[in-house]
Amino acid sequence: MRRKLAAGNWKMNGTQAALAQVEALIAAHPDPSVDLLICPPATLLAQMTTLAQTHALAIGGQDVHFNASGAHTGEISAQMLADAGASYVIVGHSERRTDNAEDDALIQSKAAAAQSQDLTAVVCIGETLSEREAGETLAILTSQLTQSLPSQSNADSTVIAYEPVWAIGTGKVPTNAQIAEAHAHIRAHLVQNFATGDDMRILYGGSVKGSNAPEIFAIPDVDGALVGGASLKASDFSEIIQALENA
Ligand code: PGA
Repeated sequence: MRRKLAAGNWKMNGTQAALAQVEALIAAHPDPSVDLLICPPATLLAQMTTLAQTHALAIGGQDVHFNASGAHTGEISAQMLADAGASYVIVGHSERRTDNAEDDALIQSKAAAAQSQDLTAVVCIGETLSEREAGETLAILTSQLTQSLPSQSNADSTVIAYEPVWAIGTGKVPTNAQIAEAHAHIRAHLVQNFATGDDMRILYGGSVKGSNAPEIFAIPDVDGALVGGASLKASDFSEIIQALENA
């Protein structure tokens, strides 16, 4: 049984004042029937894990370095994330692939570093608009899965987030058929290549909001969502969580 997951990626948003949103979220969902995760900026990580400590809310990093420690100014290791109380970390988000020229090999090494510290790696994949228009979506997903997932990945250590690059932060969402096709394709790859592939969770990400969440969560093999903009306000994220609980 795959336990559903509502994950919020705050990206480069949030200062001390935003901790009130987490308090509100916890108050609104004291006993959620799905897993909840917030990935705040690193500056809020330790405070947020303290806030969430006795609640059913996991906290995660937004990125991790592939090395365990050393002379890497500005970077954060998997051990540091775990030490701060994180239990998940996002790797390979399309914004990092674009802004920081991250490739699949690097993402694979980051996922492996996370897994080695018992952090669950949320590995993001997804096609660009030009790749979709060229009919390359499924081939791109296969290649990203093949090259960015460590061979030891399993259902506990790994979550896949399918995020079409053109749907992130744009308000554009693929059709239900397009989401269904991508998720079925990813599931088939996972089942074929990993012993626990059928139990690995596959999240959809890209302009998820309260209004479109119910229909997205009704699509087979959509085990939750990775939410950007709509995770910043507790009331918005709450609608998505409710939709996932009702799915
Ligand atoms: P969005 O971002 O929900 O704001 O589109 C999703 C993501 O980048 O994970």
